[in-house]
Amino acid sequence: MDRLEAFADISIRRACAFVGLGAVAVMIALSFDPILAFRTGADIAAVLAAGLAFSAWRTPRRNIRHTELHAMLRGAGVPPNWLSAEVKRRQIALVLRSRLAWHAQRVALAAILLWAAALFSWMVQGWSRAVDLAGPAPSCHEARMTQIGITGIAGRMGKLLAEEVAAAGCILAGGTGRGDDPRALFQASEVVIDFTHAHAASLHAALAAELGRGLVLGSSGLSAGDEAAVAEAARRAPIVYAANFAAGVNLVIAMAEKLAAALPGAQYDAEIVEMHHRQKVDAPSGTAIAMGRAVARGRGTTLEEAGRESGRDGHTGARGTGTIGFAALRGGQVVGEHTLIFAAGSEHIAITHRSFDRRAYATGAVRAAQWLKGRAPGLYSMNDVLGLA
Ligand SMILES: NC(=O)c1ccc[n+]([C@@H]2O[C@H](COP(=O)([O-])OP(=O)(O)OC[C@H]3O[C@@H](n4cnc5c(N)ncnc54)[C@H](OP(=O)(O)O)[C@@H]3O)[C@@H](O)[C@H]2O)c1
Repeated sequence: MDRLEAFADISIRRACAFVGLGAVAVMIALSFDPILAFRTGADIAAVLAAGLAFSAWRTPRRNIRHTELHAMLRGAGVPPNWLSAEVKRRQIALVLRSRLAWHAQRVALAAILLWAAALFSWMVQGWSRAVDLAGPAPSCHEARMTQIGITGIAGRMGKLLAEEVAAAGCILAGGTGRGDDPRALFQASEVVIDFTHAHAASLHAALAAELGRGLVLGSSGLSAGDEAAVAEAARRAPIVYAANFAAGVNLVIAMAEKLAAALPGAQYDAEIVEMHHRQKVDAPSGTAIAMGRAVARGRGTTLEEAGRESGRDGHTGARGTGTIGFAALRGGQVVGEHTLIFAAGSEHIAITHRSFDRRAYATGAVRAAQWLKGRAPGLYSMNDVLGLA
C-alpha cells in the first residue's frame, strides 16, 4: 500500500520538481536577456508544461479503478479483511492523485500547443520586423498613451505630425507657433517633437533638460554650437536627434558606413548629390551631411578631417583625394532625394534614396517619440530607435 502511495506521490513530487526547475531556468534566462530569450509568458508556460508533461508521461495514464486497486492490494499481500475504512480513505486519495496526473497531461498538451502558437507568431513578427523597418510603430496603447507636444504645429511637418500622433492613438498635448512661449507645451507633454528651425533647437533642448521631458529633434541646419547645446541638454533629458526620420534613409546611411569601410578613399571618390523642394533654406541637407559623416566614419576619420568639397563653381582645381563631395539641387516640390556615389577609375557604385511623401518623416518621428518615453537621458539616433545601432 505504502509503495502504491509512494508511486503516486513520486509523480506529484516530480511534477513539482520540474515546475520548480523550470521556474529557476526562466529566472536565470530573464536575468541575462529579458527580451530575446524568454520574453513572453508563453515561454514560461512552455517550461512549466515540459515539467508537467514529463511527470504525466511517467504516471498511470488512466484512473485507478476500485477493482484494480483491490487486485493491486491483494497482489501486494494485503489481507482482504484489512480493507477497512482507512484503506478506502487511502484508495480515494490514490484515485484523486491519479486523476490529477491524468488531467496534468491534458493541461501540459494544451500549454505546449499554446506555446508553439505563441512562438510561431513571435518568430513571424521578428522576421517581418527584420525586413519591414518602415512598418507600423507600436501603438500608443503599448507605449501607454504618450502625450506628445508639437512645436511649429502649423508648418508642413507640424501638420503631418499632428495627424500621425492621432493615427498612432497618442495624445496631442498641444502645439506652438513662432512667437509662442514653448514652456507650457513642454510642461504639458511627455515628449515634444520639434520640426521648426535650427535657431529654436538650443532653446527647446534646454527646456527639455530643465523639465525632464523627451525631445525628438528634426530641425535641420544646426550649427556646431547648436549641436553642442543639444548634446549638453541630452545629459539631463532623453533626446532623439536625426537628420532624417525616414526608416529607409537610416538604412542607407548604415550601408554607407559599411561600403566606405570596404572602398578606400584613395581609390574611390565619395560624392553625395541631393535634391529638395525650392523652399528649403539650408544646403547641403542634414541627410546628405549625415551620409558624409557615415562615409568618414567608415574610413576611420571624421568629415572635418577628411575634408568637405561643396558648391564647386568656376576654376576649382582638381578634386582632393579622400575628400567627400556634396552637390545640392533645388527645385519644384521634390520631397527629398539623395544619391551616394563611390567613383573609381574603372567602376562606379551609386545608392539612391527617394522620398515621395514627407509623411515618412512624420511617421518615423512619432515612432521615435513613443520609443523615447521613459528612456534614460542621452543623445539617441534613429539607428537606436530602429534597432540598427
Ligand atoms: N529630420 C527630418 O527627417 C526632417 C524632415 C523634414 C523636414 N525637416 C526639417 O524640419 C524643419 C521644418 O520643416 P517644414 O518643412 O515643416 O518647414 P515649415 O513648413 O517652414 O514649418 C516650420 C514651422 O515652424 C514654425 N516655427 C519657426 N520657428 C519657430 C519657433 N521658434 N517656435 C515655434 N514654431 C516655429 C514656423 O512658423 P512661421 O511659418 O511663422 O515661420 C512654421 O510654421 C526644417 O528645418 C526642415 O529641414 C527635417
